[in-house]
Amino acid sequence: MTRLSEPPHLVWPTAAVRTSYLAGERADCLAEGRPTDWLGPAGDDFDAFVAQRRGVQIRWDVPATIFWYVSGEHYLGTLVVRHRLTPELATAGGHIGYHIVTPWRRQGHATRMLAAGLAECLALGLERVLLTCASDNEASRRVIQANGGVPDGQAHGEERFWITVPPS
Ligand SMILES: CC(C)(COP(=O)(O)OP(=O)(O)OC[C@H]1O[C@@H](n2cnc3c(N)ncnc32)[C@H](O)[C@@H]1OP(=O)(O)O)[C@@H](O)C(=O)NCCC(=O)NCCS
Repeated sequence: MTRLSEPPHLVWPTAAVRTSYLAGERADCLAEGRPTDWLGPAGDDFDAFVAQRRGVQIRWDVPATIFWYVSGEHYLGTLVVRHRLTPELATAGGHIGYHIVTPWRRQGHATRMLAAGLAECLALGLERVLLTCASDNEASRRVIQANGGVPDGQAHGEERFWITVPPS
C-alpha cells in the first residue's frame, strides 16, 4: 500500500496530480468498459482540462462544483456537489456524487471524502442533502450511512438517503 505524505483532502481540480489522475481514471474506464477517448486530449493539455473543471459550472442542468481528493501527487477520487436538484436528480444522482479510483478503495477514503464533502456543502449553503446509490452498491450505501444517511425509499433501482449536514 502506498504511504501518503499528508492526509487526503478535497481541492479544486489541480495539475499537481496529472500523472496519477490519468492513470487512475484510465484503469477504471478500461475495467468498467467506459470510453477512454477523452483521456488523450485531457493529457495533451491537462492545464486546460483542469481549468475547465475549476469553480462553479453548469452540469446536470444545475450549478455544480467538482472536487478532487488528493494527497501530494496522488489523486484518490472525485466528489461532485450539485447545488440543487432537478426532478431527475431527485430520483437518481442527488446532490452529491463520488468515486474513489480502484487502488485506493477499501481503505476508508470514500467515507472520509464524503465527510469532507459535507463540509463543502455547508459552505455552499446546503444544510440537507440527498444522496442516492444503486440498490446493489453495498459500498456506497455504507459510505452514506456512515455519514448519517437516513433512508427515504427507493425507486428505479436507486436507494435515496438524506443527510443533515453536521455543523463544521
Ligand atoms: C463506492 C466507493 C466510492 C467506495 O469507496 P471506498 O473508498 O472503497 O469506501 P470505504 O473504504 O470508505 O468503505 C466504506 C464501506 O464499504 C465497504 N466496502 C467497500 N468496498 C466494498 C465492496 N466492494 N463490497 C462490499 N463492501 C465494500 C467497506 O468495507 C466499508 O465498510 P464499513 O464502513 O462497514 O467498514 C468505491 O467503491 C467506488 O468508487 N465505486 C465506484 C463508483 C461508485 O459506486 N460511486 C458511488 C455512486 S452512488
